[in-house]
Amino acid sequence: MSDADFQKVARTSVNEFVGKEYHDKAVIDRFVSIFSYIVNDVSNEAGWGDLKGALREDPKIVRAFYLAVAPNLFEPIAEYLAKKKFYRRDSRVVIEKPLGHDLESSVEINDGVAKIFREDQVYRIDHYLGKETVQNLLALRFANMLFEPIWNSAHIDHVQITVAETVGAGTRGYYDESGALRDMIQNHMLQLLCLVAMEPPASDDANALRDEKLKVLRSLKPIANGEVSKMTVRGQYRGISSETVSVNGYQDELPDDKKGVARKRLSRSKRRLKIGVGRACPFICAPASAWPSGCPRSASSSNPFLIRSLITPKGRRDPIRLIIRLQPDEGVKLMMMIKDPGPGGMRLREVPLNLSFAQTFAERTPEAYERLLLDVIRGNQTLFMRRDELEAAWKWVDPIREAWEASSDPTQIYTAGTWGPTASIALIERDGRTWHEDELT
Ligand code: BG6
Repeated sequence: MSDADFQKVARTSVNEFVGKEYHDKAVIDRFVSIFSYIVNDVSNEAGWGDLKGALREDPKIVRAFYLAVAPNLFEPIAEYLAKKKFYRRDSRVVIEKPLGHDLESSVEINDGVAKIFREDQVYRIDHYLGKETVQNLLALRFANMLFEPIWNSAHIDHVQITVAETVGAGTRGYYDESGALRDMIQNHMLQLLCLVAMEPPASDDANALRDEKLKVLRSLKPIANGEVSKMTVRGQYRGISSETVSVNGYQDELPDDKKGVARKRLSRSKRRLKIGVGRACPFICAPASAWPSGCPRSASSSNPFLIRSLITPKGRRDPIRLIIRLQPDEGVKLMMMIKDPGPGGMRLREVPLNLSFAQTFAERTPEAYERLLLDVIRGNQTLFMRRDELEAAWKWVDPIREAWEASSDPTQIYTAGTWGPTASIALIERDGRTWHEDELT
């Protein structure tokens, strides 16, 4: 591409992704004019000279190198950046996954980059941390007195994190090497888990938040080899073909030489967190005298109409549920018990308190990468993974993958467009709970 061609791509993208109300031709012209396109074989010293003309020398301009490259190229690129004098002591390097395929290879990458860049210059990007709703988790938890006192294992029964996608693996060749465990769980889902489970950071310093996330990762119980088949389910979608609908299966999407295993192509695309408050107990409304012994609140409250957790003689009822919709239709839903209107005694009904961010905030929600790129320029590492976090995540994930690789258990096949393998339903039901996929809207 020529610079002009590349600038055209930039202009088209701005026009497509930035709302019309923000279009200011002079600003867009100025913005696209700074793009240039340089082809460089990064492993060959000869090409590096061309970069010189493209980088401005003004020391006040932040130099950020964004490396979305194959894992074996991080180290040589870092070294060339130094050797060719593009590196400065205040430059930043952004590195994007895959940051290795296991603990050992991620240590190698981190060591390679660390030969040149100090840890406070390294930005390991996970775009989930840039999502507005993911950051909102922190606000929801720590800025609302309602939640903070009960956000602990004495009150929260369990947490469900659902990342469901309608897209398939498609033509993304790397997916077959990586699989969902490396592509989504080792990074995005463990980061979500950290934000749900961590203690409040001591300050707003980047390291304070990352220290707390690290404690969560280091506290995760390892899943022992013998437990992996009981505690995990791996699935692969198969295609459907009828008169009205035709969807490729995973194997159909692979090139012929790679037919071989992925939670994609589900019925809906959703990123959700569901938190069940009420420890292994249902919530009902009953006079305190009726609370069974063992109910955590029976000794402490005399208000007969407080909703309290206990097991009723009539059987279980669901605990209070908090659903955080990360994407799409971003928002928060808290299921509340209210009295059914009218005569007939105290009949309770569950209704949602439903907050939609789109309705509450008229402004456009920035894309995750917008926030993160700005943070790189501003030098704020809060929403980037620190080396020890990345390595702790691999350490937890590796034994699962190793057990899968050694296992002769078949991968569970599910039909594209459904909610995944039925074995995943059995998985949670063995634990006496259910997935609440119906509530995710
Ligand atoms: C990427 C994964 O990191 O995240 C993809 O490599 C996945 O496989 C994507 O589809 C999901 O991102 P989002 O923002 O749509 O949830």
